[in-house]
Amino acid sequence: MTKERKTLHIKTFGCQMNVYDSERMVDVLAPIGFELNADAHDADLIVLNTCHIREKAAEKVYSELGRLRQIKDARARDGKETLIAVAGCVAQAEGAEIVARSGIVDLVIGPQSYQRLPQLLEEQAKTRKPVVETEFPAEGKFEQLPKNRARGRAPTAFLTIQEGCDKFCTFCVVPYTRGAEFSRPVGQVEAEAQALVGSGVKELTLLGQNVNAYHGEGPDGEVWSLARLLGHLARIDGLERLRYTTSHPRDMDVGLIAAHRDIEELMPYLHLPFQSGSDRILKAMNRKHTAGDYVELVAKIREGRPDMALSTDVIVGFPGESDADFEATLALVNEIGFAQAYSFKYSSRPGTPAALAEDQVPDAVKSERLQRLQALIERQKSSFNAGFMNVTMPILLERKGRKPGQLVGRSPYLQPVHAMGDEDLIGTIAPVEINGIGANSLDGDILRLAQSLPGRDQRI
Ligand code: SAH
Ligand code: SF4
Ligand code: F3S
Repeated sequence: MTKERKTLHIKTFGCQMNVYDSERMVDVLAPIGFELNADAHDADLIVLNTCHIREKAAEKVYSELGRLRQIKDARARDGKETLIAVAGCVAQAEGAEIVARSGIVDLVIGPQSYQRLPQLLEEQAKTRKPVVETEFPAEGKFEQLPKNRARGRAPTAFLTIQEGCDKFCTFCVVPYTRGAEFSRPVGQVEAEAQALVGSGVKELTLLGQNVNAYHGEGPDGEVWSLARLLGHLARIDGLERLRYTTSHPRDMDVGLIAAHRDIEELMPYLHLPFQSGSDRILKAMNRKHTAGDYVELVAKIREGRPDMALSTDVIVGFPGESDADFEATLALVNEIGFAQAYSFKYSSRPGTPAALAEDQVPDAVKSERLQRLQALIERQKSSFNAGFMNVTMPILLERKGRKPGQLVGRSPYLQPVHAMGDEDLIGTIAPVEINGIGANSLDGDILRLAQSLPGRDQRI
């Protein structure tokens, strides 16, 4: 691989871990001359960072590859070569099949091998044949990736601290695409957090497929929990806000519940998927918790942090789900009250145990259930947001909005908030009085400092 300047285009699908990985791919390719380019039509290397979680997500890759074929052909007519790489969870799950099915892919690379991108591109350049890398290499991805670089003035950043999953929910591909659970050592996480904060980041979201199962090696040789790590990172000077996602109810331990009560920087928003309200279905899903356990857990969390905004993931139409099972899901949503939630029709995934179940639910039934569930979630979301009318909240102003003079930020509860203000305020936390409630965001006025809330109290 020569060091001449080349252009790189990355399209990211799926979860935040893929967003983080895409940024790291940019970092690993920069030293060999690649510069990020927003336009796929003018890229020497196009990477699709893919998601395999549901059938629709996986199929998107192939429709995208159809479009890329045209780009590749058009550039070839101009005498330019375009390399196409498929990364992420579809790459891991389908490997060489992608090369065979698409006919245009030059590199297939699984999520554990991004540190090897330069070598693999070199190999491809030498052999002129598609290269497929889907091993789970022994040497660590994180130790070998270059430093996470500062990205413009964005005051928020993702930081992956944990990867993989050992839980094997019977519907889910993640244990197969991301491999066994692994936690990065505390020192490594802390160094990356320090560097990000040093470059202006005010809010860190710690990422993991099972982030609250974190058990990284501490500098004292002990195994640290997520709660201990959060307490430690909260002391970094200049770091104002901490979040983490995604959590499993089973790993929500006493320490973590207490962290939500005690750590001021830890924001009062928790994404805690429960998947189904029926104990029979939860058992078939291998979730190892009941609906009652979830209710109890939420009660404990709210004891320490009464204003906690909860979000969740729900699946409808898991094999064998009866009307009564689905009603139990609606009942649980009603009992908890969510600030927002993501809901999905069950999608059969090759290689997972639930895909083999005979009592699959017809699609029409799944659609009808999804509609009812989503209507309920929308009502809960609206009523949660409506409660903020005339309330003043500290908003981390993140970027310019679409309208001239408009800024967009996030509340402690992760609601997007629009307010008019000077661009210089980006990267600061300002008191904003909410004066409008939209479907997906809030509007407000930035208050002058004299009117601001006392201290750094994030609560209302
Ligand atoms: N690790 C997280 C979730 C990872 S996947 C957890 O354990 O909660 C994100 C969400 O996708 C899941 O919470 C689940 O609701 C949904 N999902 C996963 N596999 C699915 C499938 N086969 N069909 C439909 N939804 C699925
Ligand atoms: Fe998938 Fe379950 Fe692991 Fe979440 S906990 S990633 S749903 S197997
Ligand atoms: Fe999708 Fe892989 Fe994330 S399957 S949700 S990109 S872990």
